[in-house]
Amino acid sequence: MSILPVPDTAIIVVAAGSGTRLAGGAPKAFVGIDARSILRHALDGVFAAAPMQVVVVAPAGFEGEAESDLRAAAGERAALGRVVTGGATRQESVVAGLAALWGDVTRVLVHDAARALTPSEVIDAVAAAVDDSEGAIPTLPVVDTLKRVDEGAIVGAVDRSELAAAQTPQGFPRALLESAYAEARTAGAEYTDDAALFAASGHRVRRLDGSELGFKITTPADLDRARHLLAASVGPVAPRIGIGTDVHAFGGQGNLWLAGLEWPGEQPLSGHSDGDAVAHAIVDALLGAAGLGDIGEHFGTSHPEYAGAHAPVFLARTREILAEAGFAIGNVSVQFQGNRPRFSARRAEAESVLSAALGGVPVSVTATTTDGLGFTGRGEGIAVTAIAAVLSV
Ligand code: CTP
Ligand code: MG
Repeated sequence: MSILPVPDTAIIVVAAGSGTRLAGGAPKAFVGIDARSILRHALDGVFAAAPMQVVVVAPAGFEGEAESDLRAAAGERAALGRVVTGGATRQESVVAGLAALWGDVTRVLVHDAARALTPSEVIDAVAAAVDDSEGAIPTLPVVDTLKRVDEGAIVGAVDRSELAAAQTPQGFPRALLESAYAEARTAGAEYTDDAALFAASGHRVRRLDGSELGFKITTPADLDRARHLLAASVGPVAPRIGIGTDVHAFGGQGNLWLAGLEWPGEQPLSGHSDGDAVAHAIVDALLGAAGLGDIGEHFGTSHPEYAGAHAPVFLARTREILAEAGFAIGNVSVQFQGNRPRFSARRAEAESVLSAALGGVPVSVTATTTDGLGFTGRGEGIAVTAIAAVLSV
């Protein structure tokens, strides 16, 4: 593990709330946005910022879950993090976090885990804006037109240019924040955020620009918004590509089976199963794209149930193997080389049989001759090349 300098900055991530308004079936910090919890996303932002001590304040009984998220987000900075147990109010939870600060820390940021998508740039900017006497908080302009109301009546206008919406993290010089918390405790006063508590002790707080991404996940609609933002930020996923080839000699009795079709009057291909080299090359291309081995492993002679089976059986099973491993098929392109059969008249029919067996994905089949050259040119057999694209889902 790398040795990190002891930081002079700490961030307290308060995550001990119950999430009553979200009603997500677990304390809010442990509700999933995608595969990751609200807390994990908040910590991903924290650990993308400059190194600082990280104190996670967890609900009683959920310290283990918080520890897992902390370790996963921290990576090699794990030594900078620790979990403490929160209190009944946000203010009490911050007090629990303050008690866990290291001696060298002179600057403290307090951050809501519920502002899970806050960019690390905001965290760094707040830390940089704190000095020995002043706090700093990120704010956003108020966009709605505001009215003063009394019961059912509008009783006045409010000039919104004087107002701003406060976000977190909110940063303060440690010594002044601790004494402000001590004063609030003595006075028995509850504040809605740390900046209000700090200002009530007579200290100044400056503002810097917050981020639209720093919104607090409070209601189910906020959670949906976070989910949409994350889904959009992932962008297009690159497909994985695979290749498969197969060769079969002409030989044996009966009709030819190729590209999922029976070809009456054409010489059959020899092989385990029906010898359909087009289907077999597709299977290898799909398995190869997903990194799931090859046709011999899944359908070889040790699997007698596939003796004599036709293309749809192989392809449907291959699609299942991929789905079980979390892959969806994008498309398949396959070409065979051979003098016979004459293919173009039945191309659409073959493509539709192969496509149906793969759940409707596009399958294109082309055919070519080799100018009389090689074993395909001499009419001894057929050679096939297939390419497939799959997507991790
Ligand atoms: N918080 C905390 N300890 C508490 C209450 C709140 O650490 N006793 C934290 C929450 O986990 C959250 C932040 O303070 O990250 C802001 O609080 P809020 O959005 O109100 O979260 P909850 O209190 O969990 O939600 P609700 O009010 O809907 O129950
Ligand atoms: Mg609350």
